[in-house]
Amino acid sequence: MIDTHAHLFNEYYDNIEEVLLRAKENGIDKVVVAADNISSCYEVIENSKKYDNYYYCLGIHPEDLDDDLSELERIIYDNKDDPKFVAIGEIGLDYYYTKENKEKQIEVFRYQLELAKKYNKPVVVHSREATKDITDILGEYDLVVDIHCFSGSKETADIYIKRGYYLGVGGVITFKNANIKNVIKDIPLDNLLLETDSPYLSPEPNRGKPNEPANVKYIADFISNLKGIDLEEIKDKTSKNATKIFHI
Ligand code: NI
Repeated sequence: MIDTHAHLFNEYYDNIEEVLLRAKENGIDKVVVAADNISSCYEVIENSKKYDNYYYCLGIHPEDLDDDLSELERIIYDNKDDPKFVAIGEIGLDYYYTKENKEKQIEVFRYQLELAKKYNKPVVVHSREATKDITDILGEYDLVVDIHCFSGSKETADIYIKRGYYLGVGGVITFKNANIKNVIKDIPLDNLLLETDSPYLSPEPNRGKPNEPANVKYIADFISNLKGIDLEEIKDKTSKNATKIFHI
């Protein structure tokens, strides 16, 4: 299996090597790590050189809007041929905390969508309380899209599936009252990706503890039960999807 979205940064983990080893022991052989600002861009590049199964995305998260976009582009340019650089991310819009900087968020998001186009990379998108803008803006582009930690409605899922987007499913689906279960139940396996968003959002039975890629197995298990599809098929299909989008 592949954990398609994790933040394996030094500030969250004392020993990333052990975390990756535990992932491997649990059947997760590759981890895609999403940067969220300029300093984590540098860090994920460094870490990818140290660890075999560590792949990375480069991008600026909507919570780090003051970072320098031209520096981001330089980093992307310098690493554009690195096979471990798999996507532009984590980018997007987040109106949960504030809408006041909406214009700036959209500007930074669009800038990075242009970079994805220019460097021919897929995008890993963070969308929180911003479905309409995300859907409208992405609709203007012809990009390969992973909507990470998808939490939208059935209607939104239908639009995304029609466009061929991938929906990332993480620990939230295992939470008792999560509505997303009912949406994911009917989404074709062809559009699903497994992810943890480590260190956040640990799935049951580890809810509340720091998350790590090894926990992908619980998400796979949950989807298997939810959909009534054999676990091996879930693992196989979602891994193939990840391989297809990220070329890993
Ligand atoms: Ni994330």
